[in-house]
Amino acid sequence: MEALPLKPLVDEPLWYKDAVIYELHVRAFADSNGDGIGDFPGLIGKLDYLQDLGVNTLWLLPFYPSPLRDDGYDIADYTSVNPSYGTLADFDRFLNEAHRRGLRVITELVINHTSDTHPWFTRARKAPPGSPERDFYVWTDDPTKFADARIIFKDFETSNWTWDPVAKAYFWHRFYSHQPDLNFDNPAVWQATFDALDFWLGLGVDGLRLDAVPYLYEREGTNCENLELTHTYLKALRRHVNERYPNRMLLAEANQQPAESASYFGDGDECHMNFHFPLMPRLFMAVGLEERYPIIDILRMTPPIPESCQWAIFLRNHDELTLEMVTDEDRDFMYRIYAQDTRARINLGIRRRLAPLLENDRAKIELLTGLLLSLPGTPVLYYGDEIGMGDNIYLGDRHGVRTPMQWSGDRNAGFSQGNPQRLYLPVIIDPTFHYEAVNVEVQQANPHSLLRWTKKLLRLRNRHHAFGRGTFEIRPADNTKILTFVRQYEQETLLVVANLSHYAQPVEIDLSPFEGLVPVEMLGETKFPVVTAKPYRLTFGGHGFYWFRLEQAESR
Ligand code: GLC
Ligand code: CA
Repeated sequence: MEALPLKPLVDEPLWYKDAVIYELHVRAFADSNGDGIGDFPGLIGKLDYLQDLGVNTLWLLPFYPSPLRDDGYDIADYTSVNPSYGTLADFDRFLNEAHRRGLRVITELVINHTSDTHPWFTRARKAPPGSPERDFYVWTDDPTKFADARIIFKDFETSNWTWDPVAKAYFWHRFYSHQPDLNFDNPAVWQATFDALDFWLGLGVDGLRLDAVPYLYEREGTNCENLELTHTYLKALRRHVNERYPNRMLLAEANQQPAESASYFGDGDECHMNFHFPLMPRLFMAVGLEERYPIIDILRMTPPIPESCQWAIFLRNHDELTLEMVTDEDRDFMYRIYAQDTRARINLGIRRRLAPLLENDRAKIELLTGLLLSLPGTPVLYYGDEIGMGDNIYLGDRHGVRTPMQWSGDRNAGFSQGNPQRLYLPVIIDPTFHYEAVNVEVQQANPHSLLRWTKKLLRLRNRHHAFGRGTFEIRPADNTKILTFVRQYEQETLLVVANLSHYAQPVEIDLSPFEGLVPVEMLGETKFPVVTAKPYRLTFGGHGFYWFRLEQAESR
């Protein structure tokens, strides 16, 4: 591909409001040395692709030394690079090359827990009870303690306590039993996590995703989530960042109800960003039910957030599509519509990629992508979803949505020159999603491909700050299958209208505040009839949607 012009990063503390984030795993992206594992040199080779796609921020899943029993979220060393992916020098080169192209980089700060192979744990289990070394982790003789904390990995774990024969005590873990939780009551743990943050921000990383952040503290008689102490820690962490590093961003992973989720923004003094977990399943519900209320209701329940803060919104990620925070009825509905095959279910969620979830229905994929790129917040795209990649629910855990990126119809989907048997995970050969048909090369060459369409939509989004920064207002419309909202920022007014139904639909929208303006459909630059005081009429094909710019009528 022809190299695009370089564009240096702008000095903008609120850059994350204008971001489009692309989530990827180094190991899944491109293998430069044929060992079957993606690496930093491989990723550097694909930066032109990412720049051309139209994203401006890369979120890298954990790439640190790790036994990889939880895909790297089980960290054995916070301040180096897993040798399979390259060296620290390779990372540094990657960061520079990304920055030269105007791409910012978010990495992971996984501080709730470590791998049980981390030297801190090896040391802790041998240290005498009560010593600062032992107290890096949370121990007990009584595994009935903290009984009100739920078990998150329900399909794999039966307790949040595991007996350690070396320490002769139980240790606390909210995730896998090989991932002991760090003890935030120990000031040395605060220091150690601040040190890890300093290391990566010191190298020039632009943002940090704070993994599993609601679970840092535990207290008897609570569900051990969202405790005040956790917020105290986050405020201290934020102060530390503010004092040392300009233009950086903290992104919370807090899978909670809307009010608790929003608490991770603090008063603008905790995390800058936070995933909107409550919205995600409601987008799929709205399409499944062909009704707008799931989206409207959850946005109404979402408290206003501080001026400097921003939601990160997403459709899919590297985990299961989580249904932990929806009602039992809603979960049953979601399983019925999106995971008939029980193999597609894991813990309380669905382990599928976007395209297979939507039965490879192009109109539905476009509709949901259109909403992702226009609802309030910063969108996060999951690697491969821009080409409608398939998954493999027969692989264990969440591996089915973490298979190699499909670059071409060549061996190993162009991901690796190595022996196909050596790949860290097999490429997708499902008949519908076979890599020979679903890949970047084929879709770049076809002007009607999902990839080319996604690029067009991203270009439109990037030209209008109202998507990232604008106000959000639902407009009344008589048809409940049609979602209608307006985004406004400075001189820009955008109108988004989406048909959640599979069938053609008419709608009448109250646009009276915009009387006299002309809606210009943004993909085709087509002028629609002028807005009057009367209800504005539109019709749609199944799953159709429009993005309009509302412009002054040309004076004659
Ligand atoms: C986060 C990650 C998930 C991981 C878990 C435990 O939820 O997104 O992939 O398994 O933390 O580390
Ligand atoms: Ca490699």
